[in-house]
Amino acid sequence: MYGLVNKAIEDLVVTHFGEDKWEAIKSKAGVDVDVFVSNEAYPDDMTYDLVSAASEVLGASASSILIAFGEHWVLETAAKSYGAMMKAGGGSLKEFLVNLPNFHTRVQMIYPKLQPPRFECSDVGGNSLTLHYFTHRLGLTDFVVGLVQGLGKLYSTPATATVTAAKSAGADHDVFEVTWGAAAA
Ligand code: HEM
Repeated sequence: MYGLVNKAIEDLVVTHFGEDKWEAIKSKAGVDVDVFVSNEAYPDDMTYDLVSAASEVLGASASSILIAFGEHWVLETAAKSYGAMMKAGGGSLKEFLVNLPNFHTRVQMIYPKLQPPRFECSDVGGNSLTLHYFTHRLGLTDFVVGLVQGLGKLYSTPATATVTAAKSAGADHDVFEVTWGAAAA
């Protein structure tokens, strides 16, 4: 994955736990990179190794780290460094989610070698929709849960994403029931 993903993990860890913990995580993961370059591609395994080392060093489950990372990605990386692109994604949480299937097409203009996830929405209602997530990667289900929660915070519309089918349990792809506003409370 492009370096900006690993950079965002670094930013999350350093902000909340300090530089020393980040150095310990990198060392446990066997990652010998001083500075991640945003527009350079790094092996996916490096990102996975950083997440599992963070889980060990911080004593938190990989699942909770991925959820925190999803929120951080939306609120700190995407909203602050790619504000215009995020605004173009929609004026409300519902609009953003309905447009999500096209989102990474624009990202791909900046990062041409992107191997993006694919999203589809179905059963779109007033306070809920079903989100379908397709990827060749494994283990990022909870990252998506965190991304949706982060989007809820970004739009001041609290949202929850509940996994209703998981690729890790044999389903064709991950499916989430997303609810927001009063329905998510
Ligand atoms: C401007 C904001 C965003 C940028 C710049 C961005 C960029 C990226 C990049 C660089 C990757 C790594 C893939 C690669 O390098 O091949 C990625 C992966 C991913 N992105 Fe985004 N993204 C953005 C917003 C979002 C949003 C809002 C969502 C969903 C709500 C999302 C969902 C994902 C997921 C789930 C992955 C993991 C890859 C996979 O599932 O295969 N991204 N994105």
